[in-house]
Amino acid sequence: MMGMDGAAWLAALQRDFPPSGTLAADVDALFAAHGREVTREHVPRVAHEALGLAQRFGVDPLAAQTAALLHDVGGIVSGARMPALCGGLGVPIVPEERQVPMLLHAKLSVVLARELYGVTDTGVLQAVRFHTTLHARPTPLDRVVFLADKLEWDQGGVPPYHADLLNALEDGLEAGTRWFLGWMASPQARLLIPHPDLRAAWAAFGISAPA
Ligand SMILES: [Fe+2]
Ligand SMILES: [Fe+2]
Repeated sequence: MMGMDGAAWLAALQRDFPPSGTLAADVDALFAAHGREVTREHVPRVAHEALGLAQRFGVDPLAAQTAALLHDVGGIVSGARMPALCGGLGVPIVPEERQVPMLLHAKLSVVLARELYGVTDTGVLQAVRFHTTLHARPTPLDRVVFLADKLEWDQGGVPPYHADLLNALEDGLEAGTRWFLGWMASPQARLLIPHPDLRAAWAAFGISAPA
């Protein structure tokens, strides 16, 4: 059930940011209006990277670009507001997301992809949903969006793993995914908390979770 808060939030966005038909421009305007300059700069880079990876690994390029453009739109909401908003939208919250509310941005991105931009492709929505953590049975599209987000991260400069991840991708999408999941289990990753979906991915790929 969608509560009043969730419904009002969506209605205001639908009123103020009606889709123009050009998703890249719409997303850019949405981030700009919410003062999300870091994400605004990050998202087109991820979309470009996702397109390249999709073409390279035989994934639908339009699906990859769409998911990449939408993956962080949930970040227009502050982390502090995310749990209540998810509650109001009927989005389930796991304990790890209560501890690190920013993790909820991916679920909010799915809501906006569906309700604001009219995305119905379940493969695209799934890639958005799991872009931070991956999950036990990732599709090629899920992997492309996950890795594009990591190659073009939003922390400034070149990520410490960039060259190694590109190197791993030389052996294919499976090898690149496995390599990065392994990196996420290393102390260097300094994860705030391992999300259960990430734990499921580690288990599925035979990677030991950090103690
Ligand atoms: Fe994200
Ligand atoms: Fe991102």
